[in-house]
Amino acid sequence: MASPLAPDFVDRVRGAVDIVALVSECVPLKKSGRKFRGLCPFHPEKTPSFYVDDGKGLFYCFGCHAGGDAFKFVMLREHVEFVEAAKILARRLGVAIPETRQAGKPSEREALLAAHAAAAEFYHDTLKSRPEAAPARKYLVSRGVTPETAARLGIGFAPDRWDGLKGHLVAKGFSAELLVTGGLLVRAEGRQTTYDRFRNRLMFPIKSLSGDVVAFGGRLLGPGEPKYLNSSDSPIYNKRENLYGLHLTREGIREAGEAVVVEGYFDFASLWQAGVTHAAATCGTAFSEEQAALLRRFTERVVINYDPDAAGAAATRRGIDLLLGRGFKVRVLRLDAGLDPDAFVRGKGADEYRARLGAAARYFDYLLESAAEGEDLSSYETKSAVLKKILPVLELVPDRIERSGYVNVLAERLGIEDATMLAEIKDALVKGARRRPAQPAPPPPPMKVPEADGRLVRALMERGDVRDEVLEILADEDVAGTPIDEIVRVMRGRGERGEEVSYPVLSELLREPSRTVLARLAMRPEPVVSREEALRCAESIRLRRLRVERDRIQKEMERERDAARLDDLMRRKVEVSRQIDSLS
Ligand code: UTP
Ligand code: MN
Repeated sequence: MASPLAPDFVDRVRGAVDIVALVSECVPLKKSGRKFRGLCPFHPEKTPSFYVDDGKGLFYCFGCHAGGDAFKFVMLREHVEFVEAAKILARRLGVAIPETRQAGKPSEREALLAAHAAAAEFYHDTLKSRPEAAPARKYLVSRGVTPETAARLGIGFAPDRWDGLKGHLVAKGFSAELLVTGGLLVRAEGRQTTYDRFRNRLMFPIKSLSGDVVAFGGRLLGPGEPKYLNSSDSPIYNKRENLYGLHLTREGIREAGEAVVVEGYFDFASLWQAGVTHAAATCGTAFSEEQAALLRRFTERVVINYDPDAAGAAATRRGIDLLLGRGFKVRVLRLDAGLDPDAFVRGKGADEYRARLGAAARYFDYLLESAAEGEDLSSYETKSAVLKKILPVLELVPDRIERSGYVNVLAERLGIEDATMLAEIKDALVKGARRRPAQPAPPPPPMKVPEADGRLVRALMERGDVRDEVLEILADEDVAGTPIDEIVRVMRGRGERGEEVSYPVLSELLREPSRTVLARLAMRPEPVVSREEALRCAESIRLRRLRVERDRIQKEMERERDAARLDDLMRRKVEVSRQIDSLS
């Protein structure tokens, strides 16, 4: 596989990884013969068909045919590409990640990250110890944020000056040009001068998933507009791709098996302070496809907990649609008395919040209740109006069984006995079914590998002592176009160069579908192949190819009218027949 990573780095990661320990983090595994077995993390199942082979360093699921080595496992689990998977493993294992940039000048990206780190430090130090930040400290106290939380989140204060940050960073050697690119400074309209973008604001550093400060959100200490000022998008920050706080809560989310999505910085801060460590904030932007994809790396369950006002309700509705479309299980928490998560958790405490969270409504019940709220359901007209609002949601429910369950909920809640209305609901059901005919697409059937070919691959992989002898019998053309074609070619190449042949190494070098074929063969329960059997398999595969070749020549001869070419074909047929005879 082509990758910009140094091969020895990949080797070191592969050498250090323990695939059983890695997989065990998300699936409990049981010893089963010489392998480990568990429920597949990549498709829903009730009986385990997912195997991990410690010795071979591979996994394979006989249900959905996902398979490969530790790198592939991380790629599938985290929804990342190979390079990122290698880095994730390296970080876990303490393997140093080589710098890929050329020595000398740091890239613009690195310079911007350095500037943001320095800015965050400046704002935070200012908040902690400068006299001019006294009102900001008082404000934080009034909002119930402790100094510990402020430190953990890196909250700071931007002084009420035009050149507070600018003076500090320029003295550290950052160019004003760079700081404008990063959105920390603003260039005065039509002039050369630049000045601080954030002034007299409480500063929330926004971090990337890896914990680097990439942007800021700044809140006024009192009334005024805009209440929050945020960094605009820059080479290191795209607001559609970021969820505030996720770098702190990614593990908490994975452990909880669920994420709580809130709107604001303070919502996140108060929940975090109260020990709710599986939240993240969308920060006023409409939930984006990118944010959903990001969250999907850590969980497939979301509780939306937006402000209980009209804007919050609209954002909740959009969030539900988007998350359902991404295959999430969605619930909605709507706090009473007009409280947002921040006010609620500070007023009523963490236990009460957790209780509400536990009892949060399924999205369908939430939508139904919001549609029915304040309506007199005894009249035919209102029933019909509520129904019209809710039917489009039914069409979004991906699962057929779930969908028909909701029809019952709906009919009961609205007290529908009327045949026409029921027919209308059924109609929506059918539409829904038509709209998303595919349940999670069934996995493509795995490539069929004939018995002899499978045994041959096992022998080549596991019997280094007979490998050369077996490959001697077999030419690359004997397996050309078969499912083991690439496996044999790659193995031969490595053998000739005296390089290591092992399951994890090959797994990385192969492309799909060969890689999956290899993982599946590796998991077959057969015993190790004997030398004699290996040779027999190789011969039978060669024989198979020669027979096909002979039939092909025969057909060609029947069509050929040119005497010279016929003669040539005849000679080739004799030669192939001779080879067949020598083998059978
Ligand atoms: P809210 O207005 O609900 O703010 O906006 P909040 O978090 O409850 O703020 P407090 O509690 O009054 O301090 C929710 C989020 O929307 C973004 C911010 O990220 C905010 O946290 N927002 C809001 C802006 O970006 N700009 C604004 O002017 C207002
Ligand atoms: Mn608020």
